[in-house]
Amino acid sequence: MAADIAQPTDLALSRRAIMRGTGAALALPLLSQAAPVLAQRSAALPVPEDPAGMISSLTDGVYINSNENPLGPCPAALRALSGLERLGGRYGMAFANRLASLFARQNGLAPENVVVHPGSYAPLCAAGLAFSSKERPIAYAEPTFDSGFMGANGKPVTRAVTIALAGDYQLDVRKLLAAAPDAGLYYVCNPNNPTGLVTPHADIEWLLANKPAGSVVLVDEAYIHYSDAESCLDLVAKGQDILVLRTFSKIYGLAGLRVGLVAGRKDLLDRLADYGINVTSMPAIVAAEASLLTPGLLAERKSYTAAVRNDLFAWLDARGTRYVPSQTSFAMIYVGRPGGEVADALAKDRVFISGKRKNMDNWVRVTMGTPAEMKVFKAAFAKVMA
Ligand SMILES: Cc1ncc(COP(=O)(O)O)c(C=O)c1O
Repeated sequence: MAADIAQPTDLALSRRAIMRGTGAALALPLLSQAAPVLAQRSAALPVPEDPAGMISSLTDGVYINSNENPLGPCPAALRALSGLERLGGRYGMAFANRLASLFARQNGLAPENVVVHPGSYAPLCAAGLAFSSKERPIAYAEPTFDSGFMGANGKPVTRAVTIALAGDYQLDVRKLLAAAPDAGLYYVCNPNNPTGLVTPHADIEWLLANKPAGSVVLVDEAYIHYSDAESCLDLVAKGQDILVLRTFSKIYGLAGLRVGLVAGRKDLLDRLADYGINVTSMPAIVAAEASLLTPGLLAERKSYTAAVRNDLFAWLDARGTRYVPSQTSFAMIYVGRPGGEVADALAKDRVFISGKRKNMDNWVRVTMGTPAEMKVFKAAFAKVMA
């Protein structure tokens, strides 16, 4: 399952605890400190476990904790999904090839360079296992989206060598390589979750040109369409030692349907296949195809999100509150005290955000919701920070 929700400091509140108010505060330290990562994944999400409750959660709280898209599937995807429940008894395995071919065609790749998965989290984890080991670690700068490399005890499954992001929260690829000259896998989340900042294409090219033989650069482009970052799919087309992850969970709004993909040279993709490829559900693929075939969808959603983000940044500027100038659908905001405390306080008003990150203890991460949701967030945040 996608684990943007897996941060140990995310809200660990059950719906009932939230309803009871004070019980929520008691539940948090136990779950956030002690529970293994998988348990945190389910316990940390303050969302209902039944469809009716989930539908009401769209309006009975502000859920801006998991970088979900408040717009959900686009109209063409919704139309394409309608009536597909009758196919629920079939696997429909060949559908994935169709989506892979469409994506390849749209991006100047060969179909053999694309493998579709039920979400991009699966190939992310597989890449960690396939290309790193105790001898040849995974290298990345913190904070980033590293939960895919962690085991049940919250520690890297193989071995990780990490550096801190630079003072301006940018990734310094030269420092990363110097810290891990023997890595098997270099992970670059671009734009980075949680900072929302972009690593220039030229830096990734530099890393590819200078990394040790036999290693791979894994570029996670989950949020690329929100930003002005240049994709690294061209480097896949050139046959470099690179894997690029894409997901339909973010700008396309299909997180619950579960569909993503990995692009790379066939021999690299074959190494991932050693760790299993699951069947992606037919409705997910049909919705993804409809989304890819909708002209103007990306530009429309990029500018919708940018307007919400710019409004939030202007409001934070007016308050004198620091933030990282994200180019994505989320942003880190400086709160000057443990981020989890602020997240807990907001949860009492049913505004759910995500707490601190590694090396960013006194920060919170906020996903861009609708303008109406951000209005509720601002009021609650101003109250908590007063
Ligand atoms: C950077 C990044 N990569 C990958 C994922 C996994 O996404 P999914 O498995 O929904 O495709 C997420 C989810 O939050 C993410 O933030």
